[in-house]
Amino acid sequence: MIRLGVLISGSGTNLQAMIDAIAAGELDAKIELVVSSRESVYGLKRAEAAGIPTLAMCAADYADREAADRRIAEALLAAGCEYVAMAGYMRMVTEPLLSAFPNRIINIHPALLPSFKGAHGIADAFEYGVKVTGVTVHIANEEYDCGPILAQRAVEVADDDTLESLEDKIHAVEHELYPQVLQDIATGKLVI
Ligand code: GRF
Repeated sequence: MIRLGVLISGSGTNLQAMIDAIAAGELDAKIELVVSSRESVYGLKRAEAAGIPTLAMCAADYADREAADRRIAEALLAAGCEYVAMAGYMRMVTEPLLSAFPNRIINIHPALLPSFKGAHGIADAFEYGVKVTGVTVHIANEEYDCGPILAQRAVEVADDDTLESLEDKIHAVEHELYPQVLQDIATGKLVI
């Protein structure tokens, strides 16, 4: 079993997918702490509903990014987290957090890296007109969306897809792939 911390900034559907996979016995993990970079996001409600402790940060906390990450790292370590899963976390992770969890911070990106990095991976791929895009799970490091890739899954863009239908397809794949990768880490099938 792995002890996870999850970092969010928004709706938390990937967090929910992890909570559901744990409840279904498909993911041998315990989420010890959910950290949100924003107050009052729906993902915090999902955590509370599942009985998971939360830490809600706010924009002012990030005025000093390293101080914010020191605080987050301390809270994650105090909660006993071994791995950290970023799930829609819209802040850069900096040295104090990276060094507290070396090669143990994982991120999900809604495109096939190294294509379409950044905060709008789905829309950027759609607007570019690619016929195949997808989902990437990778290790986070000091360069945004650049860490070593752990898993990828392709998603075809159909001629009649709209941005909204493509978003739905990508999210459905994310919700399957992320818990699977975490389970592969938990069972030792995937060794980092
Ligand atoms: C996901 O598409 C993820 O790939 C990206 O941000 C989105 C988060 O969605 N990094 P949610 O908060 O898990 O619903």
